Amino acid sequence: MPLPSPAFVIEEDKMRRNLERVADVARAAGVDIILALKAFAYWPAFPIIAEYLPGATASSLNEALLIEKHFGRQPHVYAPVYRPAEFRQIAAMAHHLTFNTLTELERYRAEWEELGTSVGLRVNPEYSPVETDLYNPSNKHGRLGETLPNLPTRPPRGLRGLHVHTLCESDAAATATLIERTRAQFGHYLEQIEWLNLGGGHLMTREGYDTSRLIGVLTDLRKRYPHLKVTLEPGSAHVWQTGYLQCTVLDIVNNYGSATLMLDVSFTCHMPDTLEMPYRPVVRAASAEEKEGYAYPYRLGGMSCLAGDYLDTYYFRQPARVGDTLIFEDMAHYTTVKSTMFNGVPHPDIVVVDAEGDVVQHRSFGYADYEARMG
Ligand SMILES: Cc1ncc(COP(=O)(O)O)c(C=O)c1O
Repeated sequence: MPLPSPAFVIEEDKMRRNLERVADVARAAGVDIILALKAFAYWPAFPIIAEYLPGATASSLNEALLIEKHFGRQPHVYAPVYRPAEFRQIAAMAHHLTFNTLTELERYRAEWEELGTSVGLRVNPEYSPVETDLYNPSNKHGRLGETLPNLPTRPPRGLRGLHVHTLCESDAAATATLIERTRAQFGHYLEQIEWLNLGGGHLMTREGYDTSRLIGVLTDLRKRYPHLKVTLEPGSAHVWQTGYLQCTVLDIVNNYGSATLMLDVSFTCHMPDTLEMPYRPVVRAASAEEKEGYAYPYRLGGMSCLAGDYLDTYYFRQPARVGDTLIFEDMAHYTTVKSTMFNGVPHPDIVVVDAEGDVVQHRSFGYADYEARMG
């Protein structure tokens, strides 16, 4: 059966392979590894994910509600700031709840004490391997977590956990350094609390990732602090390389020697990281650089009115034609969750295909979805 265009296509067998790998690491290291919804919130696929993972983490009330309803587990929660009107509801639902600052912890003390919520604090170990500022949370003047000088020598009364998140698409060596830096700065807290959340960014499903090393550093951590329950909350790792965005060339614009393929998707609406990061996605059967045999250069144009809604030149083996299919690889994480309907641009369908390529889930979006967002 031909797949719709445009469509995010999620491949169930690849997702299961990733999840098996993640579950193996968790088992071998004696830690919990959960799903960060900020990376992937396509809830019709949650029953598959819940076969492998013990839970999921939310950074807002909406995500927490989605986890409770469709993942069927109590959400872990961390939000950079909580809305007063929502706090009680979110805290009552939470498995663990992390505050971004000591002031928030105190602001809501009466409520979390009354509810008996297991609360933690996000701290900033001032280490991150991430070079892009947009994705580097460890800036010492930053807004994500408390730095060491702000902490009292003893943990505030009732504090049960610490949370660090400073990795992004990182390797096992970076996790080792993160743990080392966390211990060096916050070791005195680790002795006195019950749980440690090592955040996301552990890309353990990337080819070449050294999972034995990860298991080793986590096992060492657990030996050093046998009383600590350790959790990792990656998002990307679970759905890394498990889906693509398929689209169609609708027109070709030529100006002063530059040809742009006009696609039925938008970079700003559907692949915002390609403009924000920015990064060059892999396009199947095309080259992002000039290369022998790839003689036909085209810019790739989105369908919104934003002038910058295009990617610089890709090179193809043959001249493009209206009606051609284009495939952007690795588009399962952070795409469907970040996409917008700016300009009224239609949202691509989301489909899940099984190992035979048969569609097992299909959601399409229409005018009613656009209208519902506006009133
Ligand atoms: C607090 C927190 N946890 C987990 C994640 C998931 O990270 P990743 O998808 O890179 O694994 C993020 C990503 O921004 C985050 O901010």
